[in-house]
Amino acid sequence: MAKTKTTFFCQNCGTQHAKWVGQCGACKEWNTIVEEIIQKEEKRVWKQSTTAKQTVNKPLKIAEIQLNPEERVVTNNNELDTVLGGGLVKGSVTLLGGEPGIGKSTLLLQVALNINQKVLYVSGEESQSQIKMRAERLNANNSNCLILTETSTQQIFKNIETIAPEVLVIDSIQTLHTNNIEASPGTISQIRETSAELIKFAKETATPVLLIGHINKEGNIAGPKILEHMVDVVLQFEGDRNHTYRILRSQKNRFGSTSELGIYEMLSNGLREISNPSEILISKKDADLSGTAIASTLEGIRPLMIEIQALVSTAVYGTPQRSTTGYNLKRLNMILAVLEKRAGFKLGAKDVFLNITGGINVDDPAIDLAVVAAILSSNQDVAINPNVCFGAEVGLAGEIRPVSKIDQRILEAEKLGYKTFVASKYNKISSKNHTIKLILVGKIEEAFATLFA
Ligand code: TYD
Ligand code: MG
Repeated sequence: MAKTKTTFFCQNCGTQHAKWVGQCGACKEWNTIVEEIIQKEEKRVWKQSTTAKQTVNKPLKIAEIQLNPEERVVTNNNELDTVLGGGLVKGSVTLLGGEPGIGKSTLLLQVALNINQKVLYVSGEESQSQIKMRAERLNANNSNCLILTETSTQQIFKNIETIAPEVLVIDSIQTLHTNNIEASPGTISQIRETSAELIKFAKETATPVLLIGHINKEGNIAGPKILEHMVDVVLQFEGDRNHTYRILRSQKNRFGSTSELGIYEMLSNGLREISNPSEILISKKDADLSGTAIASTLEGIRPLMIEIQALVSTAVYGTPQRSTTGYNLKRLNMILAVLEKRAGFKLGAKDVFLNITGGINVDDPAIDLAVVAAILSSNQDVAINPNVCFGAEVGLAGEIRPVSKIDQRILEAEKLGYKTFVASKYNKISSKNHTIKLILVGKIEEAFATLFA
């Protein structure tokens, strides 16, 4: 056996160092350098290539390259299929990241149990009986889904050779280890090696592989950044643990757009797909309450109607409080300054609280006007007509600015039964066939003259 070889890796960013240092030179984090034993043997683990002939790649002219459209495996989970761009591409490796307890294992077990393919679900985190209990909660049973609890890639590949699964799920990449190197599971070098083996397996057998990845305290996938470069698709599962809604986003997708988004609700019997998210993000209320306004936003390319709630009250303490949930606090401060300076509303001595219902985070500037409307509605204690919605940005001069994809936003509002849409008069609203009433305004004052008349 070769001499034991060690190197130093930063556990935060994955940078390799020649010797131990207190601070990582790349990411400037302290105390993150750990010595790891790397003792590579010659042989790789996934060895199907020993039978496959070594082919030499030849350069081709663009015109000569044959296009074969990616073959996709439909997962029967519409939201996931949409985010992936139409299903799992054969031979692709998809990494699913998210906070603990958000529902990663639930989502992939649900997929494994509903897909019409032979699936091998490998768990290094839960026992077979725990997974069975979860499957019973999910009320699904796929006789084609095999559950394996194993953490060694060598053992996993041994099983794969006899089972020959059509889809492989790994929960989670941080629990795996390969015998080829000595570092403990979850370290940078183990994550890199085990994922390299799995990627090689995926490419050589054209089997789609789904990996679950833990995230670190900054919200990035734990392990080397290089992992995200190596895989084909990176998905992020997010949401507030106290809310039941979950959002599946794609951060990288070699086979589709990254602007698609999937929305789920975590119920006692698993994740329910939500195909019309606007309905759940708007609270149903009986009386007209002041301080709420409906905004039209875009999540990816999908228009979404959300509800903004504001509470403006006289400050009890000397310094007024400003606090937001789901909205950028700096942007709220800017809007309050604009209202004070350009529209003459005295909000300087008031507490302002702003909340986007449903526990989602929005950074689309098109919700500015609805934020302004909610704040003023709470301040004046006048409710806004619940059939009105807003889609415009507010500029520093108090001007109402145009937003992108206005026609899509208006169509969504129409579809959900809103009667009036307030937008910027600088927006070129192309089709004249909208049935909704459009109020086009150029300045904050104009908007409020019409709203609170
Ligand atoms: P889990 O998939 O274990 O999260 P992760 O793998 O991302 O760590 O999800 C765990 C949470 O989901 C747990 O708090 C319980 C909840 N849950 C439900 O509400 N309903 C269900 O049907 C299941 C299976 C879990
Ligand atoms: Mg889990």
